[in-house]
Amino acid sequence: MTPKLAVAKHVTYVQELDNKKDSFEYWAGEHLRLNGVYWGLTSVHLLKHPEALDSAQIIEYVMSCQHTNGAFGGHIGHDPHLLYTLSAVQILATLDALDRIDADQIATYVKSLQQPDGSFSGDEYNEIDTRFSYCAVNCLSLLNRLRQPYIDVDRAVEFIHSCKNFDGGYGSVPGAESHSGQIFCCVGALAILGRLELIETDRLGWWLAERQLKNGGLNGRPEKLEDVCYSWWVLSCLSIMDRIHWINRDSLVDFILNAQDTEGGGIADRPGDVSDVFHTLFGVAGLSLLGYPDLEPVDPRYCMPCSVIKRLGIQ
Ligand code: FPP
Ligand code: ZN
Repeated sequence: MTPKLAVAKHVTYVQELDNKKDSFEYWAGEHLRLNGVYWGLTSVHLLKHPEALDSAQIIEYVMSCQHTNGAFGGHIGHDPHLLYTLSAVQILATLDALDRIDADQIATYVKSLQQPDGSFSGDEYNEIDTRFSYCAVNCLSLLNRLRQPYIDVDRAVEFIHSCKNFDGGYGSVPGAESHSGQIFCCVGALAILGRLELIETDRLGWWLAERQLKNGGLNGRPEKLEDVCYSWWVLSCLSIMDRIHWINRDSLVDFILNAQDTEGGGIADRPGDVSDVFHTLFGVAGLSLLGYPDLEPVDPRYCMPCSVIKRLGIQ
């Protein structure tokens, strides 16, 4: 029988992540710390237990990852990157602490990463990926700086549009294969930018709905295994396009619930695997989009509680 969502276990699981400092997993994941804090914090907020983590301690940790140019590294002393800068801004926004940072300075850093074709590199090394377009757009939107003179919004849109494929999906760069994670980045960015008319809703909706497998789980591309995190990457897009009813809700809810560790807490990529905080967030966020009871509503564009986006005055 499918278990219910083990809310208390998941909250304890997230609380205890920080106590595992002598474990190998903790150090192996050190480069992911700031992302990990965003995943854990957002999980407990969506589980309606915002009190579970110490806000002051988290804010101090986030600020200790900031560089003099305003950007954030993944951990104290690590190089700055757009991925971590977005996580930092998301965490501070969730904790109502955006007054701790200089929004103009961060927006200037984000601008410095935009290329002449409108794309974004993640850092000074010029790797281009639609993930970074998403990070830039989400981050500037939260900072209320999504405009000139910060970035060239029209060119940012043009680049994302140039990554659209014949199947309606999007890849990491023009011509790259459609992948649900990249589709989330492109659809999410276009939604934040108010440019959803560029999306081929029916064609893309069909491709996304095809991601559901017999066991209820969703995969990221044809012929791949189902994975709980795709409950987020795929469902968020269907939700933005108002097509969430194109997949079988009950079988996906069952798939996510069966991937829980009902003893030790947390959610894994699929039933039987070891849980981690990444899949915990995307499992819980997916359940929230599916209307599972007693969860905080999640904004499919930002992967943050709707209440936070509303507090920021974002439409
Ligand atoms: C799949 O990754 C997921 C993606 C490519 C999207 C990642 C999106 C971001 C980093 C933007 C920030 C996201 C949020 C929610 C704020 P994978 O490497 O697991 O793909 P695979 O399943 O093909 O291995
Ligand atoms: Zn996954």
